[in-house]
Amino acid sequence: MDKDGMRLETKATHIGQEPDPLTGSIVSPIYQTSTFVFPSVDEGAARFKGERDGYIYTRLGNPTLAALERSVSALENGEKGLAFASGMSAISSVIMAIVSAGDHIVADKCVYGCTFAFLTGILTRFGVEVDLVNCSEPEQVEKAIKPNTKLIYFESPANPVLKMVDMEAMARIGKKHDITTVVDNTFMSPIFQRPLDWGIDAVVHSATKYLGGHGDLIAGIAVGSHEFMEHVAATTLKDLGGVLGPLDAWLILRGIKTLPVRMERHEQNAMKVAEFLENHKGVEKVYYPGLVSHPQHELAKKQMTGFGGMLAFELKGGFEAGRTLMDSVRLCHLAVSLGETGTLIEHPASMTHSPMTPEARSAAGIAEGLVRISVGLEHVDDIISDLSPALKKATGF
Ligand SMILES: Cc1ncc(COP(=O)(O)O)c(C=O)c1O
Repeated sequence: MDKDGMRLETKATHIGQEPDPLTGSIVSPIYQTSTFVFPSVDEGAARFKGERDGYIYTRLGNPTLAALERSVSALENGEKGLAFASGMSAISSVIMAIVSAGDHIVADKCVYGCTFAFLTGILTRFGVEVDLVNCSEPEQVEKAIKPNTKLIYFESPANPVLKMVDMEAMARIGKKHDITTVVDNTFMSPIFQRPLDWGIDAVVHSATKYLGGHGDLIAGIAVGSHEFMEHVAATTLKDLGGVLGPLDAWLILRGIKTLPVRMERHEQNAMKVAEFLENHKGVEKVYYPGLVSHPQHELAKKQMTGFGGMLAFELKGGFEAGRTLMDSVRLCHLAVSLGETGTLIEHPASMTHSPMTPEARSAAGIAEGLVRISVGLEHVDDIISDLSPALKKATGF
């Protein structure tokens, strides 16, 4: 039971999903508009000054976006959410609202490829220092902190190697040194992990993934304190302008109604696929937090309420075997992205994590032959029946 007196499944069904007060329509309308009419000059001026509530222009706020923001904020147990045009827009806007030229960031070595590119490429061009460490070892984070450190940033579990970071430890370090902590919670969704409950300051999501859940849109969400999110809304969201379209916000709201049940099935299927792969003679190593063999299985049990639908593995025979496997599956789609209804298989080194150099991938523990799967909602026996002959072709087993 959360602070608002509802369980997750109930929040997913009701918060931000209220019937339209004007007509009683059980599904709220899509406010597909760019601007809002002011009844008078004084009213328009008062809204701009923030003296009166009321909508102005969709980049500054929109009722459909507000409904989505309330929904995800409630699921994350946060105070305020903000919707963005993409996960990268959420990540870059949140980070740029925290740091200025001359500031320093401590981030994990293993993050999504474009997040890596944003941190090490774009931000450093603007005079922000970035040190990449293994946040799974809190002493590395503590050691990297400097007087100008303003942000600790990580993913947990990290894309693509499903490595966990102890969020309680990161929050403790952040609070001790007055540094903002931000985590990318895309892989777990708020159904399996609520970082704010562990003391993390802000959560970012690629809502393209599980929140939307149907592979039909690109979106991002951030959640945190009212004060911090108001700051993001008034600065980097407003002035960089990565606003989400109302139709996409409405589609995500529709997706969220089934998020708890989808996550449950994603996880059940992923567990079975992980066990199948772990027992397969052609497989060298499986990365899935739900497996007892995962080195951080205990941490996963402590800070997550489920293990999610993402897994990765290496084949005996390395990349060439992986290529044959990925070229041989029929039901699984060879595609990047994750968290949609169908199973997706991809090669991080040449696809999602290609913005990293081979050295950076190696430092992050991403093997060149690693294969990543987003386990979908098909019958799990059909997923395994698709993988089985492809594995035989790839490894001889
Ligand atoms: C963990 C993670 N964070 C952020 C992103 C970026 O999200 P988007 O593609 O919605 O910009 C991705 C995309 O794959 C991701 O996997």
